[in-house]
Amino acid sequence: MIGFIQKVLVDIIRTEGGEEALVAIGRKAGLDEVPDYRIDRDYPDDECLRLLQATGEYFGLDEDALYRLYADHFIRESRQLFPMFYQMAGSARAFLERQPRIHTVLASGLRNEESRERVRDKFEIDQQGDDLLVTYRSPNRLCGLYEALFNRVLQEFGETGFMKILDCQKRGAEACRFCLKVEAPGE
Ligand code: HEM
Repeated sequence: MIGFIQKVLVDIIRTEGGEEALVAIGRKAGLDEVPDYRIDRDYPDDECLRLLQATGEYFGLDEDALYRLYADHFIRESRQLFPMFYQMAGSARAFLERQPRIHTVLASGLRNEESRERVRDKFEIDQQGDDLLVTYRSPNRLCGLYEALFNRVLQEFGETGFMKILDCQKRGAEACRFCLKVEAPGE
């Protein structure tokens, strides 16, 4: 997993509980020392998943609450670090439509071709009338995180909408499929 995901998580841990929390969560996740995550490097997926789980346990947050907290920080930090992605999109729908491309752009900095492909293959997006159809295929099964980010993106652009889960890897499907409906104000 590209280090931006873990960097945001570490920032949340520091904000919510300081260095003490970071050390405790790192230990819970089996890390002697939490790395200084870089946004242009790839790190083991399972390390990231263990850190997410340990963070939820440490702060007493269930999965939904953890992802909501994460999504809020993630959107604020990504807007600060990559403002052009938000400016270029201009609306929630356009931003969501570009999300797989944003991932591919970030992965293009990775040295290893296999890692670049791994990032690229996780998401596909198609237009179907006014709707967006998302296919998400990943052993990490972070569909709950997807939903939290979807809702936070709507809020960021002052828009409304909802996502329908058509298939889910957690229910045994080969990939998750979501249908996104987004309405800009005045539509
Ligand atoms: C400027 C905006 C964004 C940036 C900079 C960004 C960046 C990233 C990066 C670097 C990763 C790690 C990729 C990997 O190593 O596989 C990632 C993963 C992910 N992102 Fe984004 N992202 C953005 C927007 C979004 C949005 C809007 C959504 C959903 C609506 C989203 C959903 C996800 C999910 C679910 C993952 C985990 C994928 C997995 O490992 O299974 N991202 N993002």
